[in-house]
This record gives sequence, structure tokens and C-alpha cells, in this order.
Amino acid sequence: MSKLSVSNKKIDTILVLDFGSQYTQLIARRIRESDVYSEILPWDIDESKIINLNPKGVILSGGPNSVTESYTPRIPQCIFDLAVPILGICYGMQTLAEQMGGHVISADQKEFGHSELEVVSESIIFKNLNKKINVWMSHGDQVQDLPDDFNLNASTATAPIAAMEHKDLPIYAIQFHPEVTHTDDGQKILENFIFGACKAKTDWKMNDLISERVKEIKEQVQDNKVLLGLSGGVDSSVTAALLHKAIGKKLTCVFVDNGLLRKNEASQVMQTFADNMNLNVIKSDSEDIFLRHLKSIDDPEQKRKVIGRTFIDIFDAEAIKLKDIKFLAQGTIYPDVIESSGSESKEARVIKSHHNVGGLPDEMKLDLVEPLRDLFKDEVRRMGLELGIPKEMIERHPFPGPGLGVRIIGEITKEKTKILQEADHIFIEELIKADLYHTVSQAFAVLLPVKSVGVVGDERRYAEVIALRAVETVDFMTARWAHLPFKFLEHVSNRIVNEIEDVSRVVYDISSKPPATIEWE
Ligand code: XMP
Repeated sequence: MSKLSVSNKKIDTILVLDFGSQYTQLIARRIRESDVYSEILPWDIDESKIINLNPKGVILSGGPNSVTESYTPRIPQCIFDLAVPILGICYGMQTLAEQMGGHVISADQKEFGHSELEVVSESIIFKNLNKKINVWMSHGDQVQDLPDDFNLNASTATAPIAAMEHKDLPIYAIQFHPEVTHTDDGQKILENFIFGACKAKTDWKMNDLISERVKEIKEQVQDNKVLLGLSGGVDSSVTAALLHKAIGKKLTCVFVDNGLLRKNEASQVMQTFADNMNLNVIKSDSEDIFLRHLKSIDDPEQKRKVIGRTFIDIFDAEAIKLKDIKFLAQGTIYPDVIESSGSESKEARVIKSHHNVGGLPDEMKLDLVEPLRDLFKDEVRRMGLELGIPKEMIERHPFPGPGLGVRIIGEITKEKTKILQEADHIFIEELIKADLYHTVSQAFAVLLPVKSVGVVGDERRYAEVIALRAVETVDFMTARWAHLPFKFLEHVSNRIVNEIEDVSRVVYDISSKPPATIEWE
């Protein structure tokens, strides 16, 4: 399984023992957020690996199994033999209770979502926190009887034993998930464990992660050549920069300019990576091929398919021209991994399949290099900044794979693309100038398939309509339309109709998601 590993074990490490929870990586990431190094190992790994890690503390993750059944995962004896603080979370708590003489039942009432936790006795874990805490629960089983020598620390309405600790040993357990943002003070609860109980030192830095990843890439790739599809998005850009640091010119990037990028985007990508950072980047100018394939297509899903397929064909053709490529690098990040397989643990459940870069020809037989596979988006961003990728590229709003193709409603033409690029550019430029760019999660212009009448001077103008869209969202699953100031919108609208001759009208999209999606197609 993918892991964060350090060869130099002098730094304090918290081991997260994985029982297959969707949130296992999130636990490790929260610990790293507090600048403490954390490593995930599966619960059934060879014990010598656990012992060699020499952790300052162990967190037992949640998991989808039930300890009420036989042959479900258990905590190996070596964890107890380490004699370091232990924190069981959810399934981790249940198996801890069961193994230490308590009793776990499948509760009548399953608990999913918010719950109010009441802290009933002092514990390091709840130090300096309110006695009532909003927590996030996700469990069917619960501890019915405390194990021997354990005290009760907290309860909820449906889980009377929601937190417990050993009377003498530094062993703690909580039924809720402190690692998710829905739990108030979850980070403090984890810090109470890692600093209060484990006395871990904050000696983990992003630079260590970069050096470590560079070392791992070198070991994996050796003297071979690596290919990467560079899109200019954050994930592929950071992967490119990291690989370049590790293997220099043995990395070749293919950047497909499909003509559906934002204004100046292709030249920015080339300037950043090829000119300034000195990466090998092959640029494929493919606008004409994309336009040809997209001719007369106005169905959104059809457009997506054609754009995706054309991209793969071009990428494949470029890859085949290169000789002796052994590896394909991908900017897969942890949320992509969760989407494809629940998590990398064999205990986790499959959710939905996910494709990052499309099918390369079988005969190429490339092995994958995915150095960001266990990182979250904001960690990837931090890494990108450390690696010298300009802030403006790293902090850009997300941009869909099919690009402006799904923002030109109806058939795509070169002329329409040009109009949309200009309008989008004005909108984004003004958002940045007004310091509003980072107050919204995503903003863009859309070219509508209608024309409207306007007057310019004494002239009647029958021209295109541009819709502006700006949303605020945390996860892009739901979103609120951004309440941008009227004065600002007025200014952007004026600029667009004055500077782009082919536009006579600008409208602002005031729909939230749901029911509307963020993109118009
Ligand atoms: P929707 O429109 O589904 O968008 O509310 C949610 C987020 O996903 C992006 N998006 C896409 N990204 N390929 C992508 O890579 C696509 O086909 C695609 N469609 C939507 C959208 O920009 C937003 O951030």
C-alpha cells in the first residue's frame, strides 16, 4: 500500500494502524497538519515492520467490519508490547474493547452523522475542551460493557460508552471520528493525543516529504525514462515538478493544447515548465484536430466523449513516438484513490471506478509512478509551492478536463472559443484586481447559444450572450452562487460588451447546486 515513509527514523512517528476506514488517510493527514510525522500500516502487516517503525504512539483506525463476527481484523499483540500510547477510533475502539475484556454489540440504533457528545470525566483526550462537543459518528456496533480497568469518559444519547480510557495505561478510545471536519475541535482531540499523551515533537516538514518522495522515485525509476501527461492543472504540474527534481531530463511531459484552454494558458504552461523550470515538454498543437472531431456536435455528453477520446489518441501517438519509455507518471491524489477503490486497504469497500489518464496502448506496458497518491489537495498545493511552481498556477480555480468545450453551449467553433476566452479572461482579471478571486471557489464565463439585440452608439448590434458564473463551495458537490458586489458585476459587464465586439449582453447566473450544476453542460 502507498505510504509516507522516512528512512531516517530519528523523527517522532505516529503509526496509524489501518482497519480499512475511508478516513484512515485523513487521520494521517491531520497529524501531518500538526507537523508530526505519521505513517499508515495495514493491521495485518508483518510485525517486524511495526517494531522497526518505533512509533511514539499508535492510532487504531475505523473500519467496515464488525468485531461481533469471527475472523474480523484484530490488533496484533506487538502493538501492546510497544508500550506506547494507543488511541482507538470507531472500529479501533470496538476491537480494543473486545480484546481487553469488554463487550461489543450490534446496536439497534445505528448512528450516522452528527451527535452531541457529553464528556463525563477528565481525560487527556478532552483536555481544555467543552463538556459538550458536536461529533461525527458512523457506526453500527458499539461498546456495551467497559473492559476491565477502563473508565468511562464520554457518552452520546445512543452510545452510552462513546469514549473510554484505561485506568493506568495510556490507552484511549473514542467512538466518533475526530479526523473529519464535522467534529468540532477534532484537531484538538488528536493533538491532545499526539502531544499530550505521546509527547511527539513537531519535526515533520514539507521539505522532508519532498526529499523522501524524490528518493522513492529514484529507487523506483532507476535509469529508465518516464512519460507524463501535463495538463497545467495542479496535480499533474506538481507531479511533473517532483519527478523533474528526482530524475531531471529522464522525464518527458506531453502537453496537449486542444484549443479549449483559457486565454494564454498554453503559453503559461510552456513558459512555467519548459522555459523557467527547464522540463522536457512536448507540446502538441492539436486545436484543429479537436475542432474537426467536434464539428456539428452539440450534445454535452457527446462532446465530453469526443474530447476525451481525441485527447487519448493524441497522447498515445506522442507516447509511441518516444523511445524506451518504461513508466507512466500520473498525478493521482488521494481523493481519486478513494473514488476508485474506497481506499487502498483490502478491508475497504469499492465505491466507483475512476480514470485519470486514459488507456495507453497495451503494447507500451508502462508501470505507474504516482508520487502524490496518498496526499490531499492542499498538501499537493503546499508541495507545489515548495517546488517553485508559481503561486498563480497553484492557487487557480479548478478547470474541467473538457475545458471551454463544456462552456460553449451547442456546437464549438474557433470563433466562439475566442470570444469565450476573452470574456473569461476579463472576468478573472477583474476578480483578481478586486481581491475577490480567492473569495469564490470557481468562476468562469459561459457562451450561450442565443443572440440578443443591443445598441452601441447609434448602431444596432445583434450578438452573443455571455453568462458569468461564480460559486462558493467546499467540496464542489453542493455550491452557493457567489454574491459578488453589483458594482463589480456592472464593471465586468461593461468591459465585456465594450471590449468584445461580438457580445451584446452579459447575464449573471444565480443558481445554486443543487439543483443546477456548477458547469452549464
Ligand atoms: P458540476 O458541473 O458537476 O462540477 O457541478 C463540479 C466540479 O467538477 C468540474 N467538472 C469537470 N471536471 N471533467 C473534469 O475534469 C469534467 O467533465 C467535468 N465536469 C465538471 C467542474 O468544473 C466543477 O469544479
